[in-house]
Amino acid sequence: MVVADSGAVEVVVVEVREFDPERDCSEVEDVERRCEVGPGGKLSLFTDLLGDPICRVRHSPTYLMLVAEMFVDKDGDEEERKIVGMIRGCIKTVTCGKKLSRNGKNPLPIYTKLAYILGLRVSPSHRRMKIGLKLVKKMEEWFRENDAEYSYIATENDNQASVKLFTDKCGYSKFRTPSILVQPVFAHRVRVSSRVTIIKLPASDAESLYRRRFSSTEFFPRDIDSVLKNRLNLGTFVAVSSESYCAESWPGADMFLADPPESWAVLSVWNCKDVFKLEVRGASLVRKGFCKTTRIMDRAFPWLHLPSVPGLFRPFGLHLMYGLGGEGPMAVKLTKALCGFAHNLAKEHGCGVVATEVSSLEPLRLGIPHWKKLSCSEDLWCIKRLGGGSSDGSVGDWTNSPPGLSIFVDPREF
Ligand SMILES: CC(C)(COP(=O)(O)OP(=O)(O)OC[C@H]1O[C@@H](n2cnc3c(N)ncnc32)[C@H](O)[C@@H]1OP(=O)(O)O)[C@@H](O)C(=O)NCCC(=O)NCCS
Repeated sequence: MVVADSGAVEVVVVEVREFDPERDCSEVEDVERRCEVGPGGKLSLFTDLLGDPICRVRHSPTYLMLVAEMFVDKDGDEEERKIVGMIRGCIKTVTCGKKLSRNGKNPLPIYTKLAYILGLRVSPSHRRMKIGLKLVKKMEEWFRENDAEYSYIATENDNQASVKLFTDKCGYSKFRTPSILVQPVFAHRVRVSSRVTIIKLPASDAESLYRRRFSSTEFFPRDIDSVLKNRLNLGTFVAVSSESYCAESWPGADMFLADPPESWAVLSVWNCKDVFKLEVRGASLVRKGFCKTTRIMDRAFPWLHLPSVPGLFRPFGLHLMYGLGGEGPMAVKLTKALCGFAHNLAKEHGCGVVATEVSSLEPLRLGIPHWKKLSCSEDLWCIKRLGGGSSDGSVGDWTNSPPGLSIFVDPREF
């Protein structure tokens, strides 16, 4: 509270309310543009939401976006309101553990209702005023009203502001540290071994395969069918040795799983390019010039397979590989072939990079080509138990459970 020279009492008020697409879009985009993700002072990543601030949650079954609006109340008269922060959240049912089935063979998933916080931003000129904290608390209220049992967030390990806000002030604990692996899309096509057959699965086969083989993987979404049927999903692809199958001899998911080849791998591709664009800012002219030269060379001599840098300093799109899995001694090699295939698909669609996110213990990560400089080796996921629900029964408190070898990263909230 401030008493102005005139004697009027001025109170600065911050109100958190639901985002209104009719009136808030341009202001929210403005805050987004001014927000760096991660620590300042070096290269940083900006996100262009293509005019739709809800885009990163709108494909989830239940979602909400809140904005923090600030205004000065002068003796009961309001001065102009402005948006200074926002937060998105969504809720869905995912696997948090597994139990043995009656026949003792296939593990069965244990599901829980999980909430996820993303896209928390506070305008740089209004930080350290507890606005971030207020937004998180309000979002958590909505999570509880909707019976979510856990809430989690993902942030860069070195984003001190965010890590401290969630761990010191909101009761979250560090949970998993998956890696975001990013592969540049070159101007040339990547060679895919001719000894590998890649088969695009019909959506129903993709669903059966994921439900039967991956539903007990942590974070597996129970509504996988809606993920696979979404227009942003570009397909699910299985790689096998060309000695075992050709594209025409796919027997259907049931027969395939009843008698699978010795080795196989699977992944799906999601088109994030139509949802948001990214841009790397803060690079020197020398660095930009060098990157541009590699690109010109790669375009001119594609047969040389030069590892050129895509145009990351202007808005670029990405494809996400998700639902990676596989079995057998050749699974890593088959994963590599699938990643090469996904690269070529991304090239056809004009993307700058192909990304994926995998558990730090994922055995197939050896088959995922990526550039260390573009990747994030430790994306930190922090979790909190919200309520006393007990759908996770035999798992106990999920927040204390050890990590599995794999996690299922939902492309809807990447
Ligand atoms: C992270 C962010 C949302 C914090 O918003 P904020 O409104 O400034 O945070 P608050 O004022 O509510 O801070 C609450 C607590 O968080 C921690 N915190 C916030 N900013 C911090 C900083 N720069 N350094 C260390 N701790 C910080 C402190 O514990 C703080 O409490 P204190 O002020 O009593 O010490 C803001 O810095 C931001 O928009 N960053 C860029 C986008 C981003 O990284 N988002 C997070 C992705 S999940």
